[in-house]
Amino acid sequence: MTGITITQFIIEEQRQAKGATGEFTLLLNDIVTACKKISLAVNKGALLGTMGSLESENVQGEVQKQLDVITNDIFISSLEWSGHLAGMASEEMEEPYEIPARYPRGKYLILFDPLDGSSNVNVNISVGTIFSILRAPEGVTHPKVEDFMQPGTQQVCAGYALYGSSTMLVLTTGRGVNGFTLDREVGEFYLTHPNMTIPADTHEFAVNTSNQRHWEAPVQRYVEECLKGKEGPRGRDFNMRWVASMVAEVHRILIRGGLFMYPLDSNLKEKGGKLRIMYEANPMSMIVEQAGGASSTGRERILDIQPSSLHQRVPVILGSRNEVERLVAYHKA
Ligand code: AHG
Ligand code: MN
Ligand code: MN
Ligand code: MN
Repeated sequence: MTGITITQFIIEEQRQAKGATGEFTLLLNDIVTACKKISLAVNKGALLGTMGSLESENVQGEVQKQLDVITNDIFISSLEWSGHLAGMASEEMEEPYEIPARYPRGKYLILFDPLDGSSNVNVNISVGTIFSILRAPEGVTHPKVEDFMQPGTQQVCAGYALYGSSTMLVLTTGRGVNGFTLDREVGEFYLTHPNMTIPADTHEFAVNTSNQRHWEAPVQRYVEECLKGKEGPRGRDFNMRWVASMVAEVHRILIRGGLFMYPLDSNLKEKGGKLRIMYEANPMSMIVEQAGGASSTGRERILDIQPSSLHQRVPVILGSRNEVERLVAYHKA
């Protein structure tokens, strides 16, 4: 295999960034290692005997899969020792993870969803890992929850690994979005999808329609119009997809466009939405915006939200710009 490895790509990108110390490059290298290990754990599947559910519930009120816990542990053990992080927080842990005192502290914070789409793992459908990197506030070496409470615009990097028919890593540091594919024989990710962009228009939407009766009026209107197809006000037919792995849906949108939503509905009112802002909505919104798409709750830009709790949930509408803007306009109407 020839081409640019992810390490080379990141080093060259960092060379262009003023004041880069190399610390960030090293942190990303450890994330890459974690994703390779998780890819292996997911790929071995039933051979490892780890496809089942546990008795435990996580802080989200979800029954944990064995692999939710295993992948969370892999992410922590790959990163905690490095000295690049001041703190770590995960979907699977109620409180931020306290880095053991024997390790040095660094200037970054990482938030992650170690296994996204985990309800799909034992049916052999694509799952992923999502991460978001923030800077720890100046001088903070032992961050508290409030130190993580930064709006998505403050992210210095966001990315995901997709464990699909091939394993890919998709990344942004605020200079566009690039996709890398894992060559298992070499053990390296190679740049295969430079400068990924989302077309402004689309004929495809993704939503879990089993919640339809709970949706708000603007979402009802949008989907109804799509479903009317050529004969309806949109004057064209629409296609629909729902993988139930956000990573897979966002990846599809980066490849061929589309609109993805997990909107607010009457069942989710108390929770504020389904998807978690810190390790799902924010990193995916940064990636989507960097690829020329848009991301909103329907009422405001997701990246502008000032979060108030670690596991806060938000409605998510993201993807092809013109469709997101249309649905936002329906919310305003
Ligand atoms: P996770 O597996 O990390 O808990 O995330 C699941 C999320 C997201 O990936 C997906 O879009 C959505 O939940 C699926 O929800 P439904 O099961 O309600 O369709
Ligand atoms: Mn979960
Ligand atoms: Mn998830
Ligand atoms: Mn998860």
